[in-house]
Amino acid sequence: MGIKEKYDLSGKVAIITGAGDGIGKASALKLAEAGANVVCSDINEEKINLLVKEIEEKFKVKALAVKCNVLEEKDLINLVNKTVETFEKVNILVNNAGGGGAGRENIDSLTLEYITKTFTLNLFAGLMLIKLCAPHMKKDKYGSIINISSMSANMVSHNMIIYGSSKAAVNQMTKYAAYDLGPEIRVNAIGPGAIKTHALSTVLTEKIEEKMLSKTPLGRLGDVEDISMAVLYFASPASSWTSGQIIYINGGGTQELD
Ligand SMILES: NC(=O)c1ccc[n+]([C@@H]2O[C@H](COP(=O)([O-])OP(=O)(O)OC[C@H]3O[C@@H](n4cnc5c(N)ncnc54)[C@H](O)[C@@H]3O)[C@@H](O)[C@H]2O)c1
Repeated sequence: MGIKEKYDLSGKVAIITGAGDGIGKASALKLAEAGANVVCSDINEEKINLLVKEIEEKFKVKALAVKCNVLEEKDLINLVNKTVETFEKVNILVNNAGGGGAGRENIDSLTLEYITKTFTLNLFAGLMLIKLCAPHMKKDKYGSIINISSMSANMVSHNMIIYGSSKAAVNQMTKYAAYDLGPEIRVNAIGPGAIKTHALSTVLTEKIEEKMLSKTPLGRLGDVEDISMAVLYFASPASSWTSGQIIYINGGGTQELD
């Protein structure tokens, strides 16, 4: 197989959660550029409708928008059902929707409701989607699951205890799922450092950026394309003997908020 074929996703079907913005949007565009038909899901319907239009204009693939709040089990079931009804299969799942932390998780102020919600957003929802997609991937004998974790899973920083713990659990879930679901399905995770998205812009100040850069050998914060290229690698046959792995994409350093 030549390089083009190794990265070719023609005929494959990919689901991306949180595809309306940031890393999810960039991943949907990248997988579509590689030839996959993409199912763009997000809690924000307007954003995914626009993205589907953009994808169909730019690339010769089919795209489908499915509104999905990953905190709702019925939405997760509907997402997979709509995908299979439309495309008759699922090959790639990018568990991207996630969040929390950002230096706001002071232990004194934690509630069980917040802890449960954040773990559902970052971990439980992705695990449910893995369960729902796996039979379809096995049936088609091609499955690649990519969990968007975080560098916070592998470091410590103040007031990020729930976000960091839930992302660490995403990493371990990745290894267990890879062990259970081979050989048809590969499961890998990406741990981004600070990536310039809307989520980061809500907490980034000039002072924080300066401090982050002082510990970043590659001298800049990340762009969404730094992550979407790794999503493409894991989704495609280029990584056909890679499973259960976590790659940190962080400019070679650490970017801390505090
Ligand atoms: N940006 C970073 O620096 C960074 C660093 C490490 C990890 N991450 C991880 O990357 C992933 C994407 O983050 P981002 O920075 O691209 O975010 P973003 O804010 O740019 O985009 C998030 C998207 O998810 C959607 N969304 C929010 N809640 C949802 C829900 N309950 N169900 C479905 N969709 C929902 C939003 O509408 C939005 O379109 C997250 O898992 C995040 O934890 C981001």
